[in-house]
Amino acid sequence: MEAEARRVFGLYGYREIRLPILERKELFERGIGETTDIVEKEMYIIPRDPARGDIALRPEATASVVRSYIERRLYTQLKPARLYTIGPMFRHERPQTGRQRQFHQTNVEALGEAAPALDAEVVRMLMAFFEAVGLADRLVLSVNSIGDPVCRPAFRASLAEYLEAHRDRLCEECRGRVGRNPLRVLDCKQPGCQPVIEKAPSIQDALCAPCREHFAAVLRYLDALGLRYEVTPRLVRGLDYYVRTTFEVLTGDLGAQNAVAGGGRYDGLVELLGGPPDPGIGFAIGMERVALLLGSAPDRAAAFVLLIPLGDPALARCLVLAQDLRAAAVPAEVAYGARKLRAELERANRLMVPRVLIVGDSELTSGVAILRDMRTGDQRSVPLGEAVATLRALHGEGHV
Ligand code: HAM
Repeated sequence: MEAEARRVFGLYGYREIRLPILERKELFERGIGETTDIVEKEMYIIPRDPARGDIALRPEATASVVRSYIERRLYTQLKPARLYTIGPMFRHERPQTGRQRQFHQTNVEALGEAAPALDAEVVRMLMAFFEAVGLADRLVLSVNSIGDPVCRPAFRASLAEYLEAHRDRLCEECRGRVGRNPLRVLDCKQPGCQPVIEKAPSIQDALCAPCREHFAAVLRYLDALGLRYEVTPRLVRGLDYYVRTTFEVLTGDLGAQNAVAGGGRYDGLVELLGGPPDPGIGFAIGMERVALLLGSAPDRAAAFVLLIPLGDPALARCLVLAQDLRAAAVPAEVAYGARKLRAELERANRLMVPRVLIVGDSELTSGVAILRDMRTGDQRSVPLGEAVATLRALHGEGHV
């Protein structure tokens, strides 16, 4: 999964950044927001001396990337800065399938560019990752705009007013949210809250003209890129730094933990954390959830060819031949000669190696080995001196 992420993101010009797991607690309080679940109840805090403040195990990576962007003055380089990082995050949640207290994210950020085309490209890249791991058909892309500091306060007020009027029909947690963070109510999964949420005012109707135009442009570029998506006005995300574009990738196969990735724009966060007024956008993929969807890895050999020696002199020859194959970038494995040919061929089948090269003592003397195509069962003789070139050509053709 990580190799595919690196490959795909590399195609879009992203580079890896490594970040510490420990950061000052304040970074997340200011970055993610004091009234979010993450900051209110999910952070692992390590007390430090009172003068210098506590430190925290990072619950996410965006705030750290932004801190690093500011501290390392990455904004003085060509923008956007395109960065990704892969690693463990920590949230003190109730563990269940698809929800761990230590989990792994592949996290992407693009900083210093406000154009809506970037939003569309970032989302396209996220879906390219899911295509690469073969999951795209099982996932739904959900997008929304949650406005900005110009239009959101009025929406927030009208939403709070509406929720206040229906307070008695909300769950206890949502009642607490109405005054502090009413948008989070829209994200509540409790069945009892759904009728109230369904009739709530829609952020889409409350967007100011610049936000509306930005979102329309994002959708236009997503269309141009041929992406299928749903506009979900209730998609608000659980972190406070978002403005305008937000998105999630959802699955129906993991119960309540239905988001395999989420992200959005966070123009204003860099400035809030002490940097220049640079915009940003990014996402994080929950790698355990991706792994759950993929299921256990197929029992598949990494090798392209299994060399089967029959007899000890042949084994020595196969060990050397395997070295030559690897030097020619052909993944090779050697059977160590303790089993009968039939047993080795059965093992080759289970390993799913595309080719087998059989080298017997008589083959050694004649200088010819037998090359077997495991899919068709076809066999042919190959001069031992040509085995490497032949297998390299087959491997290069992508032949299986
Ligand atoms: P998030 O939605 O909090 O966003 O997390 C992103 C993904 O991480 C979720 O969709 C989920 O797949 C996975 N995840 C979250 N919590 C857990 C958990 N306890 N166990 C397993 N998987 C989990 C962020 O973290 C933002 N920093 C994303 C972002 C980057 N926005 C802009 N840039």
